[in-house]
Amino acid sequence: CLTAQAASALRDSEPMFRYEEYADIDWNNLGFGLTRTDYMYTAKCTQNETFQQGRLSDYGNVELSPAAGVLNYGQGLFEGTKAFRGEDGRIFLFRPDQNAIRMQIGAERMCMQSPSVQQFVDAVKQTAIANKRWIPPPGKGSLYIRPLLIGTGPILGLSPSPEYTFLVYASPVGNYFKEGVAPLNLYVDDQFHRATRGGAGGVKSITNYAPVLKAISRAKGEGFSDVIYLDSVHKKYVEEASSCNIFLVKGNVISTPATVGTILEGITRKSIIDIARDIGYKVEERSVSIDELMEADEVFTTGTAVSVATVGSITYNGRR
Ligand code: COI
Repeated sequence: CLTAQAASALRDSEPMFRYEEYADIDWNNLGFGLTRTDYMYTAKCTQNETFQQGRLSDYGNVELSPAAGVLNYGQGLFEGTKAFRGEDGRIFLFRPDQNAIRMQIGAERMCMQSPSVQQFVDAVKQTAIANKRWIPPPGKGSLYIRPLLIGTGPILGLSPSPEYTFLVYASPVGNYFKEGVAPLNLYVDDQFHRATRGGAGGVKSITNYAPVLKAISRAKGEGFSDVIYLDSVHKKYVEEASSCNIFLVKGNVISTPATVGTILEGITRKSIIDIARDIGYKVEERSVSIDELMEADEVFTTGTAVSVATVGSITYNGRR
């Protein structure tokens, strides 16, 4: 939660900020499209150094060397977190420290320098406050905050980039799926796989996302909301959907695929596990077969962008 004191300190130091309470957009029809906001945060560091102090600037394009590590070899990570406006006008962030830790773990896997937890959280706060007029009214959505860590130094041979950029931008969003809050129709794709053991499926590498576009495009073309992926060895165990983790409910037991390096360790996933245990459910993190998923009492998905979404149908091998 950002205090009024922190907000006013920032206001005093940055006279360029715009102060109207709300931007002039249709708050009742927010989807998950990009809305250009006012400011973004940038910090840089060279290999083996710590990140310099970052700064806010006007939102805009980024200049990159054509030989940047991220462009040539996909050396990049992203995060997603949200800021909400409370009924009392206060601004709340959803566990940004967890995103910071996840970025550090991902950076280690991708041989990148990463910002400290404190710098990450501070950057998210600064971006949220600077773009406050884009935080939707209570109940209308949230400000989706997208931290990026990318190899921006030029590199021709395959090796870590000599420079990294930590960048944070934001956009107001509503529901992720065009279905709104209606139940999702998911398609199980047994041809494409999202990740394999030993790969980078467990971290939020940008390289995990383009490869699922083909499966998503095909499924969306047939009217499905998203794709569920199976493990690449047995082609039998459920991994996750393109944009979210999966849970099934059977009686008083909630199960979700265990994170074994091929499944993203979702922060909403973690929160739901904790809350479900607190309210008396038994929660199991284990291998979940597709047959078991098809026979569940209930299925739901979780993610920062998706929040918690109920599943109305699953189509697998012509079975629904
Ligand atoms: C998120 O939930 O924040 C994600 O990064 C998923 C993405 C496909 C929008």
